[in-house]
Amino acid sequence: MKKGMILFMVSILVACTSNIKEETTMPKEETITTMTTTIQTTGETTTTQEIIETTKAMQSEKDIDDYNSIYVIINKQRPLPENYEPSDLVIPNVSLMKELYLRKEAAKAIEEMFEAALNDGIELKIGSGYRSYAYQSRLYSNYAKRDGEEAASRYSSKPGQSEHQTGLVVDLAASNEVCYLEQCFEDTKEAQWLFEHSYKYGFVLRYLKDKEDITGYMYEPWHYRYIGKEEAKKVYESGLTLEEYFGLVE
Ligand code: DAL
Ligand code: ZN
Repeated sequence: MKKGMILFMVSILVACTSNIKEETTMPKEETITTMTTTIQTTGETTTTQEIIETTKAMQSEKDIDDYNSIYVIINKQRPLPENYEPSDLVIPNVSLMKELYLRKEAAKAIEEMFEAALNDGIELKIGSGYRSYAYQSRLYSNYAKRDGEEAASRYSSKPGQSEHQTGLVVDLAASNEVCYLEQCFEDTKEAQWLFEHSYKYGFVLRYLKDKEDITGYMYEPWHYRYIGKEEAKKVYESGLTLEEYFGLVE
């Protein structure tokens, strides 16, 4: 009886949450199935408050389809619409190569990370943050003209396919800009510090070495993606790409 009530309440909660997010999400059928299954196995002792908390947590774990979620996964197969622009863009209060924007939560996290880096004697700079669809379009077409589409597509995203459009991404550099956007950045003390510590502030290295077949892009030791502290730690420890971690790879 109690189990039945709980399942009914979860269905209502799932239905409500799905409706609210409809405008900015891809289909969520998988989410709903998973939620019901798990609650069923723990239903005996679950209170209403626990159900709400569990539902929220599971929903956020599955929010890789929601453009406004910090877990959204954007790649060549999962583009953003042309008109998507985050509503909470701010200028992070750290050293920048030019005026640039990030989503508020990512900006706060980068400020915290830069301060921690400085305490370890590491001075960083942001070279690139949020990019609009139109800006990415100009960028990609310039690279494609220069190197040809096939080569350009290994290091630059077509418009709509760039994670930079989420406002959750930074291209990082050493304060002296040595090896900025070059593979040799990997060997700098700044890149090494970032690789070891960035997860503590919610960032993960997005385009890992030797994973081009999965991510679609060459190794980029400078491109860091904000995903929140909790998930970043798990992703870092797993050594997986976000596609593998979130089960998008067959
Ligand atoms: N360099 C990455 C792949 C981008 O263009 O978003
Ligand atoms: Zn980048």
